Amino acid sequence: MKSLHQFLTLATVAAALTALTGCNPPGKTEAASSGKSASAGSPAARTWVGPGDKDEYYLFYSGGHSGQVFVAGLPSMRHITTIPVFARYPGTGYGFDEESKAMLGDYTWGDVHHPGLSKTNGLYDGRWLFVNDNANNRIARIDLRDFKTKQILGPIPNSMGNHGSSFVTDNTEYVLVATRFSVPLPKGRYADPADYEKEFNGAVSGIRIEPKSGTMSVGWQILTPPFDWDLGSTGKGPSSGWAFWTSYNTEMAHDQLEANSTQKDRDFAAIVNWRAAEAAVKDGRAALLDGVPMLDPAKVPGVLYYLPVPKSPHGIDTDPSGRWIVASGKLQPVASVFDFTKIEAAIEKKDFEGEFRGVPVIRHDAVIEGEVPVGLGPLHTQYDGKGNAYTSLYIESAVAKWKMPPWTAEERADLNKVILDKISVHYNIGHLVIGGSDTTQPYGRYLVAMNKMSKGRHISVGPSQPEDSQLIDITGSKMEMIYETFTEPEPHFAQILKADAIKPIEVYPKAENTDADAVWEAKDTGVTRNGNVVEVKMIAIRSHFIPDRIDANENDEVVIHVTNVEQTPDMIHGLGIVEQNVNLVIDPGETKTVRLKMKKAGVFPFYCTNFCSALHQEMQGYLAVKPVNVAAK
Ligand code: CUA
Repeated sequence: MKSLHQFLTLATVAAALTALTGCNPPGKTEAASSGKSASAGSPAARTWVGPGDKDEYYLFYSGGHSGQVFVAGLPSMRHITTIPVFARYPGTGYGFDEESKAMLGDYTWGDVHHPGLSKTNGLYDGRWLFVNDNANNRIARIDLRDFKTKQILGPIPNSMGNHGSSFVTDNTEYVLVATRFSVPLPKGRYADPADYEKEFNGAVSGIRIEPKSGTMSVGWQILTPPFDWDLGSTGKGPSSGWAFWTSYNTEMAHDQLEANSTQKDRDFAAIVNWRAAEAAVKDGRAALLDGVPMLDPAKVPGVLYYLPVPKSPHGIDTDPSGRWIVASGKLQPVASVFDFTKIEAAIEKKDFEGEFRGVPVIRHDAVIEGEVPVGLGPLHTQYDGKGNAYTSLYIESAVAKWKMPPWTAEERADLNKVILDKISVHYNIGHLVIGGSDTTQPYGRYLVAMNKMSKGRHISVGPSQPEDSQLIDITGSKMEMIYETFTEPEPHFAQILKADAIKPIEVYPKAENTDADAVWEAKDTGVTRNGNVVEVKMIAIRSHFIPDRIDANENDEVVIHVTNVEQTPDMIHGLGIVEQNVNLVIDPGETKTVRLKMKKAGVFPFYCTNFCSALHQEMQGYLAVKPVNVAAK
């Protein structure tokens, strides 16, 4: 039967291909280029992006503890590039040149969780992608003009476990960040973990984004009790200027969290008025803590409120209208829908059910719209912009599609009626993403399920099984799984961006190269000695280096600046130096620098690492290092 099944599958694909090539110009396929409804045709036809054709969307997915961001095309799901962020990546020479080494500092890894695209007026503007590092409390900015990491900010003061980020505000004023862990503040202070409740704190941070350059700096922070803040989202429309995070461990346990942090039926979400926080800092109401303006919410009313949500929640997601906020408690099988207009009214009327350390707790029943019985282990919710929500169900290994408010009286009486569809995924889904779900206008076409396990979905590669992502077509009334692929470890969240929303550059224009050590003509190249420092200004061009001989002495410092003077797309050169751990990759129009201490004498060949021409293999030279005793003569 298996062979018959295989035969039928192949026959379906073949039929689809014949149909497609029969009615389109060569190299063009209907699914990829017509922009017509995705739900037409077989799954194979809908995800097929033929030779020479291009995907319609970028999928930027986090690389977890690989420290990187991976880029795939949709709908093909093909991995098309890797953007190294928090870890060295020899493929692009990242972490080998002085510029990227300085950005990485002493850390050799990061834990990338939640990519966030920059926005203008609540829509993706295609300028930057921000990613967080849960491990070393950093935020990085990737420029989508060239898909490269341009800045790494951090470790952020007073921030431990930068998990609750990167949440971008409507006009990229801020990337908002909350702490997963709490410690005695400022960092470096010691207190006994047994004194957790008294001595430990967390914080919410506003990372300010300079509008023109994207340069990040720590704007302000709000001190919080030692809850473990989890995922969040930013407001829009009526909730613009606000941000929301869930928390687990409002029990403030410091050990055996599995049991000790799951005692209460409800934990708190943080409801943060970031515009009020910004204004309070301007009014001088913050005190500096480790160099950062820190607001104490008990002394500055109006910046922070708490909202009770079901037990040990994980995600909290604002819908495209900005009115509805959906939080899911992973230990309760419901998605709680809150009405932000009611939250605002409750704050106005002081409709509180108490306070915690001077911060008001909004009365749950005053602001809840309903608890939708989505299924077991609800984590995150995404929106299609057509009034539907999609919630990932970790325990159930499924995605539930349900109808957002407004609900009819009949639906309200039994919210099982708003569950529209459910689809199984394989297995243990964490995040899910719909393009533009966090904007005012979701694309609403594809959903990608990011599964935590694959349990035999791929041919075996040993004990560490490939991670798994599944592509679901959400254009019809029923969700339909149309593709499945491995994803690089360890996917946490992703963003989807229309490919035609950006136009990346292909060469760095010579006029934009501001490197003082760039040289463009052979006459300006050369090797100069200044004491024990040998400085080289080098050109790389098909198919040679100028100069191709560098002379130095043992114990010298050799500084090499290489400019790739090409202005031709895709004409990249590399500089590898044998046994010196030097691996530069220089894009057209770019200049890179490396410094190396010549610890031993000898003659070290260098060569171009990127295949650039028929004479690429001939693109080589020598770094000749004389022993000290010879040099002295
Ligand atoms: Cu230059 Cu290969």
